[in-house]
Amino acid sequence: MNLMDYRKPVQFGENWSPSRYKVLPYFRVEKALLVQPDVEQILDLGCANGWNMSRFGQYGRSSIGLDMVPERVRLALEHGPAMVASGLEVPVAAETFDVVYVQHVLHHIGGVEDALREIRRVLKPDGILFLVETVEDNPIIRWGRRLYPSWMGDEINADFDFSSLRKQVADAGFQISTAEQYSVLFWIWEILPDQFPMMERFTPKFVTIEQLMARLFGKYGAHCFLVAKKR
Ligand SMILES: C[S@@+](CC[C@H](N)C(=O)[O-])C[C@H]1O[C@@H](n2cnc3c(N)ncnc32)[C@H](O)[C@@H]1O
Repeated sequence: MNLMDYRKPVQFGENWSPSRYKVLPYFRVEKALLVQPDVEQILDLGCANGWNMSRFGQYGRSSIGLDMVPERVRLALEHGPAMVASGLEVPVAAETFDVVYVQHVLHHIGGVEDALREIRRVLKPDGILFLVETVEDNPIIRWGRRLYPSWMGDEINADFDFSSLRKQVADAGFQISTAEQYSVLFWIWEILPDQFPMMERFTPKFVTIEQLMARLFGKYGAHCFLVAKKR
């Protein structure tokens, strides 16, 4: 089975078992946003291989990808236009995009404040930042990162938790309309079946456990997503 690896070309629904998607609440919210008729220009900042771009395509939306690693951008080009550039210096005019989508990039980018300023610059007035991030509220994530401060070869540079991330986004000139934590243990499942494919068959059971954990211990969620409008 071709499991999640953001360096490989992927098609939505093919690289993960469908039950895994049940614990990712931001899909429903992003889809509701992106299908709005006035959303035309979408930037996927830190697009890697274009996993998000391929999903947006399945909502009937095209997007522009940006990543600083050329071989990832080459894969993203399968899913739409994409450029090699830094998210800290986006080579487009101010007020270009209706939505800037940033998933699991801020903890690598090494300058969260600068990145948010740049995102705000390229958003149109009232444009939307859609942010999906890992946060350090989960003690296993926190200590795991201390012991191993990189992910698939990319250095991890930020140590925000859910609360400090919301504050940074608000302080950068955004009004947050939605903010949710999720995935208390499920992130383990993003890794384990890659290493031990036979575990994939337990995914439906693990999804049930994760949903219960998220209800009881949501504040220890290892991931979060935010929807924020440019003020
Ligand atoms: C964990 S991956 C996430 C990829 C994709 N957004 C996703 O969720 O599948 C982080 C990506 O951010 C990119 N990245 C890190 N710093 C960047 C920067 N300054 N400018 C652009 N991309 C950057 C990395 O090259 C990598 O592809």
